[in-house]
Amino acid sequence: MPSRRTVLQAGGATVVTALGPPGPAAAEAPAREIALKVNGEVHKVAVEPRVTLLDALRERMNLTGAKKGCDRGECGACTVLADGRRIKSCLTLAVMREGEEITTIEGLASGDRLHPVQEAFIRQDAFQCGMCTPGQIMSAVAVIQEGHAGSPDEIREWMSGNLCRCACYPNIVAAVRDAAR
Ligand code: FES
Ligand code: FES
Repeated sequence: MPSRRTVLQAGGATVVTALGPPGPAAAEAPAREIALKVNGEVHKVAVEPRVTLLDALRERMNLTGAKKGCDRGECGACTVLADGRRIKSCLTLAVMREGEEITTIEGLASGDRLHPVQEAFIRQDAFQCGMCTPGQIMSAVAVIQEGHAGSPDEIREWMSGNLCRCACYPNIVAAVRDAAR
């Protein structure tokens, strides 16, 4: 009568035979050089196809204004503009954004002059820790351009993809209304 150990060993051998020997790890696709236009400046960076726009900005171009909050499209901290439209940069690949005009929070001010939305956020005290603020401001710029800042309810609806863990929402809404005026 076979022992429990012999049965287990035989089973293990069968599994190994069925799966075959372990092969080499799947090779990573090679990096390729792409040119991304960010804040009016062309950056040539070598990226693997899997690299998100957020990682390319933060780790290859040293533009750390866009924040990595969740890295899965839930918080909006990574919001940037692509050809004037807001996108979550953690949800898009850098290689897909060649030829577009990317704007990050670093590109909003003109020299020492802050963008009106940045000024309104300061005036209305619309942040605490600041983690969500670059994404909130980039979204607010787009919301105003889209014509979706007509009332507090409309602002809340169209800014709902940007979360604030400090719960500064009343001040953020006030800042967007202030800037829209
Ligand atoms: S980091 Fe992109 S949505 Fe949260
Ligand atoms: S100010 Fe802290 S997360 Fe929004």
